Amino acid sequence: MKSRRATDPARRVAYRVLRAVSADGAYANLELAKQLREANLGERDAAFVTELVSGTCRFTGTYDLILARASGRPLSSMQPAVIDILRLGCHQLLSMRVPSHAAISATVDLAAKAVGERVTGLVNAVLRKVAAHELDEWLAELTSKLSNADALAVRSHHPRWIADAFAELLPADEVVGALAASNRPPQTHLVVRPGLADPRDLPGEPLRYSPFGTVVDGNPGDVPALRQGRAGVQDEGSQLVALALSRVDVPDGPWLDLCAGPGGKAALLAGLALQQGHTFLASELQPHRAELVAQALRKYSPRPLTIAADGTKPAWRAGVFARVMADVPCTGLGALRRRPEARWRRKASDLEELIPLQRSLLRSAIDAAASGGVIAYVTCSPHRRETSEVVEAVAADAPVEIMDAAQYLPEVPDCAVGSFVQLWPHRHGTDAMFLALLRKRG
Ligand SMILES: C[S@@+](CC[C@H](N)C(=O)[O-])C[C@H]1O[C@@H](n2cnc3c(N)ncnc32)[C@H](O)[C@@H]1O
Repeated sequence: MKSRRATDPARRVAYRVLRAVSADGAYANLELAKQLREANLGERDAAFVTELVSGTCRFTGTYDLILARASGRPLSSMQPAVIDILRLGCHQLLSMRVPSHAAISATVDLAAKAVGERVTGLVNAVLRKVAAHELDEWLAELTSKLSNADALAVRSHHPRWIADAFAELLPADEVVGALAASNRPPQTHLVVRPGLADPRDLPGEPLRYSPFGTVVDGNPGDVPALRQGRAGVQDEGSQLVALALSRVDVPDGPWLDLCAGPGGKAALLAGLALQQGHTFLASELQPHRAELVAQALRKYSPRPLTIAADGTKPAWRAGVFARVMADVPCTGLGALRRRPEARWRRKASDLEELIPLQRSLLRSAIDAAASGGVIAYVTCSPHRRETSEVVEAVAADAPVEIMDAAQYLPEVPDCAVGSFVQLWPHRHGTDAMFLALLRKRG
């Protein structure tokens, strides 16, 4: 048997994370954080593992096409662990600046250790073929006989149904940029708990539009306001939809967050409600997520009530709330840059389950609102079927008027789509949040 160098710890960690993602359905970010904690790598190795895992997860669909072409056989004929090893090799060869000989030999050593000597010949041969071309050359070859729509999906490293959804919503000259923005990790945005901290207490630069926070490079580190529960981490898009809801004129009355877990928007809204002298109720279906909401609200006094309840079977009286946030479960297509593996895991068919729930939660939010009260329907997705179509279908049959939502965010350019607000990473630097505001008739 050939004597092998010990595999390097960074690649072993990356392999373990990728196996957990592809075999056990783990979330890449959570698994990565867990494995990095356990492995105790230095800063450089940790950065290498992070890029290797995140990039491999993001480009999985592209690498699978390249691997099938390079190996001349369908991937379904290979052992799943070998496919993951080959994907890691692809990312080093095609998208990281690892010299080919180092990427190939380290990946072959990893294959020997993780799977066995018998697969090293295959891994070596396939990766040599992969290394014969640059990524752009592979993309040109893969797309040469495809339709424009299929080629766009492959070139942008997205499944076709997601590329189609973006293309349907955006002007033609923005689609490539919008999809490319999903491939870049986001900056970190911080947010204050209103009344408990001031944005000037936070590190970083002020956010572009939101008055509540700052943008920092990388990990915010040990920020006292965060540690003390007086501030949190929250994308600016989420801050803006909460801000818009808080700006609408409504009669006095309590505020409700119907789908509050893990508590980002609730923490901002609760502070604004308390500042205006109103009570705030946070509700969330999953008890463990309701616990996270309670944690996020822990520093407010008086402490807002958090309950675990199904929003479609209200645990509150109808017709009492002045403002209702319905930030419903969705495909998350607006936050692909945060969840590297999500685009390949989500399926268009997920919408069939989500849409009835989204409609039912919006109806429930309308029931909860008082006359003259306002409901914010929010998704972290721009997909037409779970945004404007849900709102229009429910509003057609309910005592509400759809308001001009963009009017409440005058500082944010190019965010109006009809009566709705749609934010975009490539335009606004935020997640692609959708917002509709509906006023309940008397
Ligand atoms: C998009 S997330 C909300 C994010 C949250 N507003 C924030 O800013 O942190 C949707 C939440 O709805 C919850 N959910 C799902 N079905 C629900 C239901 N029937 N009633 C209430 N909440 C539900 C999910 O558990 C999830 O926590």
